[in-house]
Amino acid sequence: MKSEFDHYAGDYQGLLKDPIRDSFAKSSAFFHLRKWLLLEDFLRQSKLGGPQARWLDIGCGQGELLQLGRAAFGEVSGCDPSAEMLAGCGDLKVEVQTDLLKLPYPDQSFDLATAVCVYHHVPPEDRPALTNEVVRVLKPGGVFCIIEHNPYNPATQLIVKRAPIDANAILLTARETASRMRAAKLEPFRTTYFLYITEGLYKKFGGLEKYLEKVPMGGQYAQFGRKAR
Ligand SMILES: C[S@@+](CC[C@H](N)C(=O)[O-])C[C@H]1O[C@@H](n2cnc3c(N)ncnc32)[C@H](O)[C@@H]1O
Repeated sequence: MKSEFDHYAGDYQGLLKDPIRDSFAKSSAFFHLRKWLLLEDFLRQSKLGGPQARWLDIGCGQGELLQLGRAAFGEVSGCDPSAEMLAGCGDLKVEVQTDLLKLPYPDQSFDLATAVCVYHHVPPEDRPALTNEVVRVLKPGGVFCIIEHNPYNPATQLIVKRAPIDANAILLTARETASRMRAAKLEPFRTTYFLYITEGLYKKFGGLEKYLEKVPMGGQYAQFGRKAR
């Protein structure tokens, strides 16, 4: 059976086009890079990553984030319900999720799990089951990072409202994300708001985002939670 994103995969970049988004960055590459820089910063501080470490990106789509970060881990994997999105993943190790709420991996397999712009496509009543699955596949002490659109940012709201791929999207605040993590027995420990500075200004002024990371106005946020040891 086709999944929702199988219908979008053929013209995925075209469907993301939006005048505000396009004036923020030339292409999606900047958005993926910005997320990788955020994760890389976290890995440096937390000493997670390295040749023994395993990373799973849930709802990895066409695998751009995994491609950017793969060298920082011993092994990276991706999964997604859309086989047609996964077809863009090249030589990455990826699996189709035949069940939207089951991850095709054994218990305690990963040091880091990420889900980037996935949860707003998951109906709220299904979010607890997906989060419990993520906790199942994380090793004790492993970290889950959810990156999401920030509903407090008016430009984000407008872009989501106009995007064909977001027709069914239900955005979630960082507070909701953290409380979902808590309900799944993850300890939320860090929230970082980002995407304040456009691609054109990022080289010169990107450092300023550090000072704004606690201000809930960035275009997106990253919420981190840890599984107990
Ligand atoms: C907006 S795309 C984001 C793709 C990628 N993470 C990125 O940042 O480019 C949302 C992705 O979530 C996937 N998705 C939707 N429901 C999901 C679920 N229950 N579990 C895992 N992935 C899901 C979709 O198939 C799609 O590839």
